[in-house]
Amino acid sequence: MTSQLNLPETRHAKADHAHLLAMREVRHAYGKHVALKNINLEMAPGEVVCLLGPSGCGKTTLLRIAAGLEVLQQGEVVINGRRIGVPGGRHVPPEKRNVGLAFQDSALFPHLTVLENVMFGLEAQPLHQRRQRALEWLEQLGMVGYAKVYPHMLSGGQQQRVALARALAPSPPLMLLDEPFSSLDARLRDQIRDDTLHVLKKVGAGTLLVTHDPEEAMFMADRIALMRDGRIVQMGTPQELYCNPSDPFVVIFFGSVNELHGEARGGVVQTPVGPVSAAGLADGTQAQVLIRPEALLITEIDEPSSSHQYSHVIMAKLLGRSSLLHICAHGKDGREAHLHARVPGVFLPAAGQPVEIRLDPSQVFVFPADLAGAGA
Ligand SMILES: Nc1ncnc2c1ncn2[C@@H]1O[C@H](COP(=O)(O)OP(=O)(O)O)[C@@H](O)[C@H]1O
Ligand SMILES: [Mg+2]
Repeated sequence: MTSQLNLPETRHAKADHAHLLAMREVRHAYGKHVALKNINLEMAPGEVVCLLGPSGCGKTTLLRIAAGLEVLQQGEVVINGRRIGVPGGRHVPPEKRNVGLAFQDSALFPHLTVLENVMFGLEAQPLHQRRQRALEWLEQLGMVGYAKVYPHMLSGGQQQRVALARALAPSPPLMLLDEPFSSLDARLRDQIRDDTLHVLKKVGAGTLLVTHDPEEAMFMADRIALMRDGRIVQMGTPQELYCNPSDPFVVIFFGSVNELHGEARGGVVQTPVGPVSAAGLADGTQAQVLIRPEALLITEIDEPSSSHQYSHVIMAKLLGRSSLLHICAHGKDGREAHLHARVPGVFLPAAGQPVEIRLDPSQVFVFPADLAGAGA
């Protein structure tokens, strides 16, 4: 694990022993196109961190810089307390970084069997030990029955399992995985994700995993770094990002939401589903109110006898594990809104059914309207 390179120790060196990976003020450009701007990211040993964000936001670039596949242009990369890249200076190549790499299209060596592929990364050990270890890893990933098979005889999912086994076999303290499950169909993906998570946790491998899928990130991650346009917008546990999002982009990235507008007054914004708290917004501030579909709590009511407008169901659809209700909400002030409510299980009231709507305030988020659509 100790590097033979005599890179200068930095002022961060001491604190860095707590970090498996630290990236500081990393900036990267392809020609004039700036792909990463001032990235700061730290990972503890054994931690699974997901880089999450839309296509083109810089996830792969960041991972490639950590891996050494991309030369560091600006900033600092520290792995296991060692400065591993110096802009304009020495560049530690990927194979000297003691990291395990697996990418979306990780090619296996076609002329080697599955077993030989996995043994490939273990060349420092005696042959019988390499064999033993490789077989253990294939066992872990449910591929031991294919040890003597050549890659072209495997399905895409099986090849990805072998690629993961090959990356994990040398037991690197740091794994760098770029969309490793993306070429798998849904059912197989769930299975391999689950296997991979358990293997990573069992061996305590710190992992930086790239994905554009928020559910995958929440499934895998101890912490998520949500990226946009070359920056980290918010970094925290899945629960922090989902329940305490720092801006509208973070809310919306985890799933479609109901969006309403209003003006803050006396610490609240009036909406067609009642007042919502706007603590911290000055009176007169235009506010954007984001309500997750599961925050709308729907109760069927008897049709009111008065002509007073009431909220009602427009249509209801079963989505499987939950039902989606299209609701026409009527506020006391006469304003109405078309809202989507998600209710667990089968709940399919008829069109026109009058309903009462209450809000779960923990899934309602209020931001100043001028934040909407602003670059992070
Ligand atoms: N080799 C390259 N040359 C030029 N531009 C690149 C190159 N690789 C990536 N880019 C650009 O940099 C940005 C970030 O790309 P990338 O890191 O692949 O994003 P992501 O993995 O989040 O989809 C994109 O705008 C992409 O087009
Ligand atoms: Mg990518």
